[in-house]
Amino acid sequence: MDRKKILGFEFTGKDGEFKLQQPDHSSFLYFPLVNEGGMMSTVTPKFHGQATTGHNTFLTPPLSVEDLHNSRASRNFWVYVEGKGAWSAAGNSAKQNAAFYTPSADDAVLEAGFLWHRVTRSNSEMGVKAEITSFVPSGNDKVELMKVTLTNTGTEELTLTPTAVVPLYARSADDLRDHRHVTSLLNRIYTSPYGVEVQPALSFDERGHRINHTSYGVFGAEGDGSQPVGFFPIQEEFIGEGGSLDWPEAVILNTTPEIGKGGGVDREGYEAVGGLRFAPITLSPGENHSYVVVMAIDSDRINVEAMMGKYGTSEAFDHLLEETKAFWADKVNMVEFHTGDSNADQWMKWVTIQPVLRRLYGNSFLPYHDYGRGGRGWRDLWQDCLALLIMEPAEVRSLLFNNYAGVRIDGSNATIIGQQPGEFIADRNNIPRVWMDHGAWPFLTTMLYLDQSGDLDFLLQEQTYFRDTFMSRCKERDTSWDTSAGSDLRTASGEIYKGTILEHILLQNLVPFFNVGEHNNILLEGADWNDGLDMGADRGESVAFTSFYASNLLDISRMLRTLKTSKGQETVELAEEMQLLLDTLNESVDYSSVSGKHERLDRYYAAAPNKVSGVHVSLDIDKVADDLEQKAEWLFDHLRSNEWVQSENGDGWFNGYYNNDGEQVEGEFFEGVRMTLTGQVFPLMGHAAAPEQIPHIIAAVDRNLFDDKIGYRLNSRFGGIQQNLGRAFGFAFGHKENGAMFSHMTIMYGNALYKRGYVKEGHKVLESLYSLSTDFEKARIYPGIPEYINEQGRGMYTYLTGSASWLLLTMVTEVFGVKGKLGDLLLEPKLVKEQFDSEGKASIKTIFADREFEVVYKATGSFNYGEYQIYSVTLNGGEVTLQRGSGSVIIPREELLALQTEKLHVIEVTLA
Ligand code: G1P
Repeated sequence: MDRKKILGFEFTGKDGEFKLQQPDHSSFLYFPLVNEGGMMSTVTPKFHGQATTGHNTFLTPPLSVEDLHNSRASRNFWVYVEGKGAWSAAGNSAKQNAAFYTPSADDAVLEAGFLWHRVTRSNSEMGVKAEITSFVPSGNDKVELMKVTLTNTGTEELTLTPTAVVPLYARSADDLRDHRHVTSLLNRIYTSPYGVEVQPALSFDERGHRINHTSYGVFGAEGDGSQPVGFFPIQEEFIGEGGSLDWPEAVILNTTPEIGKGGGVDREGYEAVGGLRFAPITLSPGENHSYVVVMAIDSDRINVEAMMGKYGTSEAFDHLLEETKAFWADKVNMVEFHTGDSNADQWMKWVTIQPVLRRLYGNSFLPYHDYGRGGRGWRDLWQDCLALLIMEPAEVRSLLFNNYAGVRIDGSNATIIGQQPGEFIADRNNIPRVWMDHGAWPFLTTMLYLDQSGDLDFLLQEQTYFRDTFMSRCKERDTSWDTSAGSDLRTASGEIYKGTILEHILLQNLVPFFNVGEHNNILLEGADWNDGLDMGADRGESVAFTSFYASNLLDISRMLRTLKTSKGQETVELAEEMQLLLDTLNESVDYSSVSGKHERLDRYYAAAPNKVSGVHVSLDIDKVADDLEQKAEWLFDHLRSNEWVQSENGDGWFNGYYNNDGEQVEGEFFEGVRMTLTGQVFPLMGHAAAPEQIPHIIAAVDRNLFDDKIGYRLNSRFGGIQQNLGRAFGFAFGHKENGAMFSHMTIMYGNALYKRGYVKEGHKVLESLYSLSTDFEKARIYPGIPEYINEQGRGMYTYLTGSASWLLLTMVTEVFGVKGKLGDLLLEPKLVKEQFDSEGKASIKTIFADREFEVVYKATGSFNYGEYQIYSVTLNGGEVTLQRGSGSVIIPREELLALQTEKLHVIEVTLA
């Protein structure tokens, strides 16, 4: 076994299945197992990881990535081989770890798919092979299952004594440091015929000391359902004096459990373990035997009989595994890509599932995500909807609608998102903080929804606003407010106030327009997209997001004009106070005057001080659109003339920030170049970058940010810790938000390049993301896109990242060019040569207008983007009504709505 030789994963099936040899030769690998019912597990090649249903209900000890190799508290399955001693089928014993560098080491291979995980481990000296399969059954039970099949691979009979072991931590993550021992005294430990269950008497955590009901259990059976023959429920007794979980006395000395078959003995007040002893078994050469282990969390004592009736046999396990595979395949196959590279197509399936994983895990509960208490932030909420619009479109309208209830009347928003849709919670810690980018994302997502659906009425639907103690974007407090007042904004007369979704959007984009710093860009406030830019709250400005807001203003203005032309909408109804922000309708503000803008904003804050009059005014839609357009144009001019960094090399880029000392952050300085990718992405993605500026930006990015080894860096090396900008610069350069390849920004850069017609350059960005993520020897991650690639090329924070949504969106709407245009279907392929297969075909399966489509592009002449044109289009083999544009065609929605719903429809596009 050559430890140095690292083979990457290899795809083995059509549903994303892959295989990885010697998976335990790479550290930090972990795999998610989860269901919609709230079971959230992680499993590693050696069955480490965790199982939980939330911050306060961990079945196994909560952990961080380092624990994956350093802690011994993991799921395990031991066999005591007569005459040879103990061997861990999970690969986790002191002896096997010590043998790692020697010829006696195990051989292991991992196979995984949606969403199941299997490691087959063998040891020729032991003459035994173990195949362990894990999954969390789809459905609502909070259960993780494991099946272990032991095979005699030798030439002689083997007698084995199996013991399944899972540490039962059974409490809140808070107790890991805070009273870990005292909380073990709360444990009530029950042993039944199938296993061990813990129901702590009380829970001690941030919620206070309360009666606890949640129960945690580890149960097991032989494949045919036979019960274990004994139990080890107490951890210290199982490991023995001087022992440990990777060399436990009960296994090493093959001791007889004190609690025999049938259980029935209860214990209390110790750290628990689900230790299940099975009957010794003799296997002839080639013979095998299986065991099922069930890990469960329930809201009260577990009905063990029922649970084991449902899960406790090999047959049930195999059946549920197939069901679970089918459940996930259905989800993932909502979108399918076929290109010239089938590995890339399989890899995209793993990207496709990532937004769903983020919906289920939030930003917590995977080993790198060792923070938070579940739930997502405001920004992530909106961006995850981008992918859900493609994968779970039916649910998105109400999601978006509910999310708008989080907007405050000052254009900021609630930051703590409750469990229920549309539930926003006042910040318990009372930290006054506004992320200045938050107002920009909702319109972007809503625009995508409107384009996909044509549902312009959505804009006119009324929704409430959020209110808490913070007002004037956290600069003031409403002392009259307390939690009993509720978090709905009210009118002067105490009624709950509602305004249209359009009104919410306008507020989110108009307030920032006036909220500028000394260089007349929008203030950075608590931070922007880059959470790490959190030390510029007084004088910092985000020029990057000024571009984003400016583009929004123009797009909202255009949308208002569409509302008029397509729906005959002549007026917009708005809270009367908002007229102050639509200044050109009454009393214009001089936009070049920072103090003029502040004065106006203060007047608005004073007019709507955490309450509104409740009076709506009806404004001429054209005039409102004009106002927005003027604001946008003013900003574009300002950005292009004042924020352009002209390089000595002839190219140039946009300065993205001012720091807390009011200094321009980016430029070519004596100490070196300071440049951010963020500063370029938003001018490019919207309208702020003038067409002639684009090639210069691309050249500057390539020169200053592109690194052959790790791709497009988020920023160049600034040096120093930048206390006037943010904590990100405390991170070592090349890591996370300081100069790593941060996938989210990189993919948005790619998306922006496609949008602006720079297809070759956009493709280079996507290629770079793909090859970095799949270069296993360096990245050491399973298929999927990581949050970032660090200085050494390692993929970090796997699975939960907003970049997956953006990559999926970019592939569907830009690369394959399948997108909505106010409800109609626009086809505008931007495929490059390598994306066509050998027959000149590239296709995508996706949902549009509630129907499933396969769009097949067939290149009959050149495969090069720019050299082909859409020649003809057929729908299910027949003619279809078309409007032609340059490089695109539009199929009207009515044509599509006339099609059956339960069928796959084929659109064939010939390119010539
Ligand atoms: C994470 C956060 C995201 C934030 C980004 C940069 O990115 O989830 O909200 O904007 O860091 O600080 P993600 O995990 O989505 O890649």
